[in-house]
Amino acid sequence: ATSLPLHGVRALVTAGPTHEPIDPVRYLANRSSGRQGYAIAGALAAMGAQVTLVSGPTDLPPPPGVTLHRVETAEEMLAACEAALPCDVAICAAAVADWRVARPGTRKIKKSPDAPPPGLTLVPNPDILAHLSRPGPARPRLVIGFAAETDDVRDNAAAKRLRKGCDWIVANDVRAETGIMGGHENEVTLITATGMEHWPRTSKDAVARGLVHKIVTEIAPSHHG
Ligand code: C5P
Repeated sequence: ATSLPLHGVRALVTAGPTHEPIDPVRYLANRSSGRQGYAIAGALAAMGAQVTLVSGPTDLPPPPGVTLHRVETAEEMLAACEAALPCDVAICAAAVADWRVARPGTRKIKKSPDAPPPGLTLVPNPDILAHLSRPGPARPRLVIGFAAETDDVRDNAAAKRLRKGCDWIVANDVRAETGIMGGHENEVTLITATGMEHWPRTSKDAVARGLVHKIVTEIAPSHHG
């Protein structure tokens, strides 16, 4: 309805891992479930935003009211994000693979008892968050990234905010013992230009609602509260 706080606001969310092919049957990937990004997309839609969710491979159903574009690779994710511009808010929650295989095999790589294992030459993937954060007329008003760290979470995340050029960073501790990566809960620190807030461990849905509340305050302040 027009009374919802994010009515008329266009939002772009990335979520999930990417799969980077080695050959037609094998790929490089990571443990991201997509849950945090899907929860954010759903929470934005519930507040009236027009949401495009660009998702790597996940098992999750699309949240109600969200336009879902499924992709596999980082390069496809970047292209789908560019196609979703212009937008007002971009949230990059995807765990994009840092590297892809330079020349994936067009046929299944054969194993042979005599030959050594194949070497993989990796090349860097495009940084979608840094790309969306670049100054210019198409830059969203608010660009939010995630920082999945295992050490010095806050310092690394604050440095990442500056390096990527985004407005806010949501930092989380993905050490294996936290069970956060791939799990249902998250414990985050929100880092902005003016400070940081630690949020105690809670569900990814609650983190999503908290973040969307912050977004409402930032871009639709008349609806704050
Ligand atoms: O550099 P790092 O992977 O730690 O940065 C994490 C943040 O950057 C996340 O918001 C992630 O979605 C985004 N990212 C991206 N494209 C990449 C790598 C990371 O959008 N190639």
